[in-house]
Amino acid sequence: MPQKITIPELGKMKKEGMKISMLTAYDFTMAKILDQAEVDVLLVGDSLGMVVQGQKNTLGVTLDDMIYHCRAVARAAERAHVVCDMPFLSYQGSVDEAVKNCGKALKNGRAEAVKLEGGGEIAPTVKRLTDLGIPVMGHIGLKPMHVHAMGGYKVQGRDAAGEKRILRDAKALEKAGAYSMVLEGIPAALAKKVTQSVKIPTIGIGSGPHCDGQVLVIYDLLGMYQEIRPKFVRHYARLHETITEAVKKYRDDVQRGSFPNEKESF
Ligand code: KIV
Repeated sequence: MPQKITIPELGKMKKEGMKISMLTAYDFTMAKILDQAEVDVLLVGDSLGMVVQGQKNTLGVTLDDMIYHCRAVARAAERAHVVCDMPFLSYQGSVDEAVKNCGKALKNGRAEAVKLEGGGEIAPTVKRLTDLGIPVMGHIGLKPMHVHAMGGYKVQGRDAAGEKRILRDAKALEKAGAYSMVLEGIPAALAKKVTQSVKIPTIGIGSGPHCDGQVLVIYDLLGMYQEIRPKFVRHYARLHETITEAVKKYRDDVQRGSFPNEKESF
């Protein structure tokens, strides 16, 4: 059994300058592949609302959805650290509600930590959760739950005021006890400043190379999700084409009666 990646281990990786790899995972089979490929962190992202459920954004995802997928991923993760992304309105209403719902992510979803979108405004919640032993990964910069307020998925922190706010948010999360934070959609130079100004690891997405780690949505990395193609995504495979070809071959074989053959029959 491989040694589990722990929160102290992630902190040590930052100190030693070792980059952290994080990917989203939503089901057992994929999580098993990513775990065996030694990806450090598996994020059960609320992006599942878009890439698994086909919704336009992440706002409709429920806590039950997250717990269902989290359990499947946790069953596969022998090595990787598993994080449950808390969905819209599952932790923003009150600290007590956040404790109840984040607790469920660990207790029922078998996650090892939760991820919360937000900075200074959620610091009291982060403090209470971490005091209770529920580890929190923050998420600042472009916050997908704010899609309507932002008028789309737009790079944040481009001006002086935005930059100041993001630096303040990062400090507030660290002070409240977060053990790491995602920096999404901010300029590379700002991500570098944030990364240098906090002791906890930063995990970037669309935020340049200077973060302590990187995260991508697995269906983006594999070239499967076709609805949105952000500039920061690198396609390491073209599985949309590969799967389409394979499935067409299967369909043709079925149509001409060559599948299954004798060896494939009992
Ligand atoms: O939901 C998600 O997949 C995320 C990451 C991409 C950071 O929040």
